[in-house]
Amino acid sequence: MKRVAIITSSDAGYRGEREDLSGPAIKEIVEKAGYEVVSMDILPDERAMLSRRMAEIADENLAELILTTGGTGFSPRDVMPEATEDVMERKVPGIPEAIRAYSMTITKRAMLSRATAGIRKKTLIINLPGSPKAVRESLEYIIEALDHGIEIMTGETGNCAR
Ligand code: MTE
Repeated sequence: MKRVAIITSSDAGYRGEREDLSGPAIKEIVEKAGYEVVSMDILPDERAMLSRRMAEIADENLAELILTTGGTGFSPRDVMPEATEDVMERKVPGIPEAIRAYSMTITKRAMLSRATAGIRKKTLIINLPGSPKAVRESLEYIIEALDHGIEIMTGETGNCAR
């Protein structure tokens, strides 16, 4: 079973002042798709803390997939893409491109997402937006294709023939 670690970036969530609805939305969608959720962290919008946790999950091989939510917008505290870039070894531009292209059919504000994706060791890291609505729209669109990418990344399959 493929393992997922969920990281929510939210100052208010970290302080316990706002309930995290986006982390649980991710959990529900990935579990329905057959993934096992191994951890759910709520961290403040702090670049070093976010990148340290992502690196730890990848380096200790705790999950094949890290899904993050929040911190991808224009607020001065939004640093999730930068934290992700700090730890990724290889870029995966197609995933945020696909999310934005699809999301643009729903709202033009999708162009405001600075989300990125990349691979560190055998872990794929994908940024999702912050709101539960945006999380659902984005993740439900990409989830089916992820399986195959993760299998190639981990060496479970070597080719793309169907
Ligand atoms: N993508 C989808 N599918 N649906 C949405 O409602 N909201 C956008 C965008 N992407 C949205 C979306 C908005 S309003 C912003 S500001 C950016 O994601 C960044 O979101 P974040 O700051 O919550 O990470």
